[in-house]
Formats: sequence, C-alpha cells, structure tokens
Amino acid sequence: MSTEKFTILQLGHPHLRLTARNVESIQSDNMQNFIDDLLHFVSEVNGMGIAAPQVDHSLRLFIMSSRPNIRYPYAPSMQPTVIINPEIISVAKKVEKDWEGCLSVPSIRALVPRHQSIRARYTSRTGEHVEATYSGFLARVFQHELDHLNGLVFTDRVEDNHDMMAEQEWLKLISQR
Ligand code: NI
Repeated sequence: MSTEKFTILQLGHPHLRLTARNVESIQSDNMQNFIDDLLHFVSEVNGMGIAAPQVDHSLRLFIMSSRPNIRYPYAPSMQPTVIINPEIISVAKKVEKDWEGCLSVPSIRALVPRHQSIRARYTSRTGEHVEATYSGFLARVFQHELDHLNGLVFTDRVEDNHDMMAEQEWLKLISQR
C-alpha cells in the first residue's frame, strides 16, 4: 500500500522489528511537516492509528485516529492525536482479548490480549507534556501502536493460533454480531 509520500512496511520487513529512537526536535519544520503528512496519510488509508516505523521512520511517534467505520463499528470518535515519546505509567490488571488488525499485516485479524485501561504519558506535537487515561478500544490502540515503536506487531501477542483469522472470515463473523 502506498501514496505519494509513504509506503507502509509489511510484515517481514526488518525495519518493523527495530526499537525506534526518541523524537528530539519536535518543533523543527522537518518534524512538523512529517507529522502533517502522517496525519493526512492515516486518514487517507482509514487507519485507527499508525506508527512512524510503519512508514520507515524509526521514531517514537504514532497517531491515534479512532472513529467508527464498517470494520470497527464500535470504535469511539476522536480528533486524530499525535503521540510522541510515549510511556505507559500504569496499567489495569484486567486483560481483555479483542480483535485487532494492522496496516502492516494485511488480511489477518486476531484476538489480542491487552490491558483494559492504561495511564500514559507523552509529548504533544506542540511540545506539551500530557498525561492521559485510556480504556477499552483506545487503550488497545495505544498499546498496539506503542508496540510498533518497540519492534512488535500484534500477532506477536496472540496466545493461540486459533485466535487468528483471515479478514474475509472475520468480516462474516462480525456481520453476525
Ligand atoms: Ni499496527
């Protein structure tokens, strides 16, 4: 998948497995332009989120852009949010399995265990330090995207191969919900 500016790295590309480095100069024109391009890109590809390493920029930066669509009718609507140098401060003990997919792992869906809620700290694109609590779907998106910064993809966290499905079969399943 690609547009003019970016190509999404696909599973097997070694750069998806790197530990990304901290973003140092958030206010630079280069970084602000990159953020604008990535915001545009994630809306173009209808992503719930995208992490910089997925477009071959090994930086600790991702976008959360949840909104309901055919594939995730239960996703909450939010303003796309740029998350820079994120850390999880604390997590709820409760872990839930739910369906995930990824632009870098096309055609596969899987049940992935994630903490039901998290407390996180990050820097915004204007350089502000932010602390926020996320639960449910947004906590899931945050954990999924943070994994990309550490060289992990969602299939790494699948506990049982029976929790994986082809997207085609998954669409049948959720249409019966
Ligand atoms: Ni992903």
